[in-house]
Amino acid sequence: MKTHEMILILDFGSQYTQLIARRVREAHVYCEIVPFNADLSAYSDRKIAGYILSGGPSSLKDPDAPRLDRDFFEGSVPILGLCYGMQLLADLLGGKLVRSEHREYGRSVFEVEDNGKIFEGVKNSSQVWMSHGDSIVDLPSGFRAIGKTESLATAAIADEKRHIYGLQFHPEVHHTTEGRKILDNFLFRICSVRGDWTTESFIEESIAAIRTQVGKCPVVLGVSGGVDSTVAAVLLDKALGKQLHAVFVNNGVLRKNEYDEVIGTLNTLGVNLYPVDASSLFLERLAGVEDPERKRKIIGNTFIDVFEAEADKIGGVEFLAQGTLYPDVIESVSFKGPSATIKSHHNVGGLKDRMRLKLVEPLRELFKDEVRELGRVLDIPNEFIGRHPFPGPGLAVRILGEVTKERCDLLREVDAIFIEQLHKHGIYDDIWQAFAVLLPVRTVGVMGDERTYEHVVALRAVTSVDGMTADWAQIPNEILAEISNLVIRNVKGVNRIVYDISSKPPATIEWE
Ligand code: XMP
Repeated sequence: MKTHEMILILDFGSQYTQLIARRVREAHVYCEIVPFNADLSAYSDRKIAGYILSGGPSSLKDPDAPRLDRDFFEGSVPILGLCYGMQLLADLLGGKLVRSEHREYGRSVFEVEDNGKIFEGVKNSSQVWMSHGDSIVDLPSGFRAIGKTESLATAAIADEKRHIYGLQFHPEVHHTTEGRKILDNFLFRICSVRGDWTTESFIEESIAAIRTQVGKCPVVLGVSGGVDSTVAAVLLDKALGKQLHAVFVNNGVLRKNEYDEVIGTLNTLGVNLYPVDASSLFLERLAGVEDPERKRKIIGNTFIDVFEAEADKIGGVEFLAQGTLYPDVIESVSFKGPSATIKSHHNVGGLKDRMRLKLVEPLRELFKDEVRELGRVLDIPNEFIGRHPFPGPGLAVRILGEVTKERCDLLREVDAIFIEQLHKHGIYDDIWQAFAVLLPVRTVGVMGDERTYEHVVALRAVTSVDGMTADWAQIPNEILAEISNLVIRNVKGVNRIVYDISSKPPATIEWE
């Protein structure tokens, strides 16, 4: 958002950097994250109201610790350094640090010694979430110590003349009880931002930006029924109307009734929709394939074929829209967790190059929760916005072994019962993702006097904040028992249900 005042967050590798950005945006202040060594001249035409230096795992005592140029501190824009960020600024401005014997990490009681602007209205004593390896023993000139903890005499510093502040704790985590207040003080009292970045203003500015970018050209968008592509479709529809062509492909591995339901919702929302039922083509190409990565590739490539054929029919297309979100865009020191590379995620980026299209990415500045909020303001029904994530390769990576129509149909029935029960018991929204997995083994059972030899289905439900780590969901036993009974009674071909009690890591959320 070019016109907005913004906060720039320099990332030194803290696991909390994204959280800092979310807290700033919760205050309706636009912000972006860049690696600490980014070329800041790219922001020279932006109204930067303040900088936040994130924490990070390094120690300034290490010769290859990440640093900044001293010139960075010469400007008049306010700076807040957190944890490593505070030590870095103290070090660069002439203070002295010593390596602590123990790395302190976790809860601590913080005492304000001098309120100033940053601690205005903040309680004198409150809980904070500390993290430090080194301690400041000599302050740089112009600075004062403004707070301490039991084990650390210099836990907060300020040079009010130059508007530079440092905190040895994380105001962005909720364990720091006065954190919200402190960040607000930095934003509103020190950086003097207005806080006028709202969903409504985002919509207005995006519509204008999309129109300027694409002019009169037709734009294609692949929709999946997921939150991101649905919100992108509705936003683009507002900007472009019939100039937007949203293609929805049935890849044969969608959930029960999903194809019809998504068509229904997008039609109601007025999106110019092109549904394509290519399920037979996908299933033909998947026949006999057991390897998960090959399944993903086949589905990705077939999607591109079908999409391209559809775009050819539309004709004259120059732009491809995508529902890319901010976490996919941030070039960061720390965020790309291992799951990004363990599985080749369903990536249709190949489309852009193959069809020589330019990209339109209206959500690329937003976090997931901001996309949900945007969806609400755009009047997308709640049940759509709160849907669990569903992977691009769909049921194909939940059917271990070969994917056939019969197996898909069986899994669809189990999955539908599972999800319906979670809704019925009011726990769907507490769960990040829940689904059934068809295992490639059969087990013995009894039904009446008969011996049976049928499929085993695993149920998987996890809680998570971002899918990068996850815990198995502790669904009450009575609910699991009810689901198991319902499935075995109603789905022919299943005689055993197991519940997956592994967390991520070391397991992943999906089984393939
Ligand atoms: P894992 O299984 O890696 O999943 O713990 C993390 C999140 O990513 C989703 N996932 C995928 N999404 N294409 C996608 O679009 C894929 O190939 C894919 N594999 C996993 C998974 O459902 C979970 O939300």
